[in-house]
Amino acid sequence: MKILLLGSGAREHALARCLASDPVTTELVVAPGNPGTAAVATNLAIDPASPTEVVELVAQMSPDLVVVGPEAPLVAGVADAVRDAGIPVFGPGVGAARLEGSKAFAKEVMAAAGVPTAEAAVCTTEAELAAALDRFGAPHVVKEDGLAAGKGVVVTSDRAAAMDHGLACLAKEHGTVVVEDYLDGPEASVFCVCDGATVRPLAPAQDFKRLADGDAGPNTGGMGAYSPLTWAPEDLAERVVREVAQPVVDEMARRGTAFIGLLYCGLALTGDGLRVVEFNVRFGDPETQAVLARLTSSLPELLHSAATGCLAESPAPTWSEQAAVDVVLAAPGYPGAPTTGGPVTGIEEAEALPGVHVLHAGTGLDDDGGLIASGGRVLSVVAVGDTVDAARELAYEGLSRIHLDGGQYRTDIAAGR
Ligand code: GLY
Repeated sequence: MKILLLGSGAREHALARCLASDPVTTELVVAPGNPGTAAVATNLAIDPASPTEVVELVAQMSPDLVVVGPEAPLVAGVADAVRDAGIPVFGPGVGAARLEGSKAFAKEVMAAAGVPTAEAAVCTTEAELAAALDRFGAPHVVKEDGLAAGKGVVVTSDRAAAMDHGLACLAKEHGTVVVEDYLDGPEASVFCVCDGATVRPLAPAQDFKRLADGDAGPNTGGMGAYSPLTWAPEDLAERVVREVAQPVVDEMARRGTAFIGLLYCGLALTGDGLRVVEFNVRFGDPETQAVLARLTSSLPELLHSAATGCLAESPAPTWSEQAAVDVVLAAPGYPGAPTTGGPVTGIEEAEALPGVHVLHAGTGLDDDGGLIASGGRVLSVVAVGDTVDAARELAYEGLSRIHLDGGQYRTDIAAGR
């Protein structure tokens, strides 16, 4: 199978590693990729969010499958353009990508599909925002309506801070903000592979969104993750399919915007049952790094079945009994204004530990070919062990061998579960 994978983060390096190691894959191109994906695939420097550039590459390469990693190409219509060119693509079209692209749209679909979520108010004026903050009370949950790379959500008991964030969202072009009731309970991410009709869940994971230990500091794209969730109900994935993903996939099909791709269900397990916190329309980062480390069945076959509408006939994914933990190393200044250019050393030493691998994200090469930080989240250290505690210890042992001046990481990923 010839595969084109779009994206350049640690999530894409995890996908590339898994796709490349499968005997079914005969050729893998990653566009644009990173220094890590270059070791397992051919990198090609195109803009993955440009439908024109992607379709040109698809015409040259004739892949059997295109896998879209990040959300920006999906919202820009890349999946539609590839599908129109007659190539199977794992990723939703623009109409279905609105489940991530607009929080207000996602709420409307959930209401129509009878999916449990927090009560919410969609606000377009300062007066509506103030009334919604008063109606729901603290802790305040204020979400920018559109895409914001994981940084559009503020949860705070400080009403002034909630108001400031809401006003900043309203000040943007077509500014809309969603204010929600706070959902109390542990969070879980359940990724559902969908072919427009059938849904197959992957192993649940949990991520850590705040920058600092103890869930302090600002929201980030994610600082670490682990799987499995030993504390969660054993039938969590099946419940998510039944109560959330299948009703949403059915509703999207009914609207004529079939959901083909990865429906990321971000959930709170509240005392009153499952509640959806958010949807994304692509693999989560950093959860994918942990989830794929446990996958024992074929990823290319699973994604190809979804892209070609054959998921019902394909076997369910299978999982290692082992646990996986990944810890993100971020550049100094992340998430505000990351400082790039610092040398990154010690990756080989980390990977010398059995059960450890390192996934690149914001890395690049300097003029001498040395590895440097080139983005906010620089890399993920992934470890597999017999238990979550063993994997966690190994991940931190691996991380201790890597150096980046001023590099930031949490020390409590997968701890205190
Ligand atoms: N882990 C959060 C995200 O992928 O958006």
